[in-house]
Order: sequence, then C-alpha cells, then structure tokens
Amino acid sequence: MRPNIGIFISGNGSNMVALITHMMREGYAHPALVLSDQSAAAGLRKAQDLGVATAILPKSTKGSQEEYDAKLNSVLAEKAVDYIALAGFMQILSPQFVTKWAGKIINIHPSLLPAYKGLHTHARAIAAGEKEAGCSVHIVTEALDDGPVLDQTRIPIHAHDTSETLSKRVLAAEHSLYPSVLQSWING
Ligand code: GRF
Repeated sequence: MRPNIGIFISGNGSNMVALITHMMREGYAHPALVLSDQSAAAGLRKAQDLGVATAILPKSTKGSQEEYDAKLNSVLAEKAVDYIALAGFMQILSPQFVTKWAGKIINIHPSLLPAYKGLHTHARAIAAGEKEAGCSVHIVTEALDDGPVLDQTRIPIHAHDTSETLSKRVLAAEHSLYPSVLQSWING
C-alpha cells in the first residue's frame, strides 16, 4: 500500500508542487492532503490544480494549542495521512503534536543545518562571509530546525550574491533534493 502524505504549507508552495509531481510520477506515495494555515496561500490553488485535496486551518489567537492540535489531527485522520512533509509551513508545531507523529514528519530548511536555523538564512550567511549556503531535509523534532539531517545540497555563494539571487539558486536545489529524500525516506 502506498502511504498517504500530508503536505503543510503557508505560502507559495513551490516545494509542495515538486513533491506532488514527483510522487505522482514515481508512485511511491499518494499526496492525500495539502494543508495551509494561511487562507491566501498561493500554493492552495496549485494543489487544487494538481487534483489534491486541500484544507485551511488558520491558527487563531483565541483557541488553545490543544484545540488547534485536535483540529489538525482530525483533518489528517479524515485523509488517513501516514506521513507529513512540511514545505514552507510557518507555524511551530506543538511538542505534543510532534510526539504523536514522532519520526513521521520531515521538513526542508534553506541552510546547511545545523548552521542558520530559523529565518533569513541567506542574508545571515552572506553577512557572515560564508562561501557556501544550501538546503537540508531533516526529521522534525520538538526543537526548531533541529532533528536529524537526512540529506543536504551545498550551493556556492558568489561574491555579488544578494539574498534574492542566492535564494533562487537554493530554491531550485530544494526542488530536486526534497522529492528524492522523501522517496528514499518512504522506501526506508
Ligand atoms: C523554502 O525555502 C523552504 O526551504 C522554507 O520555506 C521556503 C518555502 O518555499 N522552509 P515554497 O513555499 O516551497 O516555494
């Protein structure tokens, strides 16, 4: 049986599109759901165009974390999701949620982890005079951008790079790294 994959996004969803098209082509997994915490995420339309079910679950300031986790878990259960791939999802998942899904969530981060966890990775790497940037796919644990790294792609930083020019090259590398890591991870 092909496992069902849930992909969490907040924005553009270019990694999500790369994951879905690869899964559809290679057949090792089924893209069961794309979930966004942002109703305006451009990726939602792209998922629908690919024929994948979508859900919007905004994080309200009113409800408790337990309520949010319960909603998340019920949407995932409805689609019988087995594994979760975070692809530009800007919410930090609760420790309880990560524990429930231990070892079943992966993420892509635009740096050579463990360097440059968090935001603005390319600007920070350029400011620090780094010669290399890159992207990493890792297992999600409670601590932000911290779980075991499954694979990375290294990208040279050129003398005249800005965070925009660098991020374009890294994003292109993400689109080939993430699907291939997902496939090997699913295949054990
Ligand atoms: C990517 O750079 C990813 O590494 C980071 O957020 C960005 C998402 O881009 N976590 P997209 O939505 O996949 O285009």
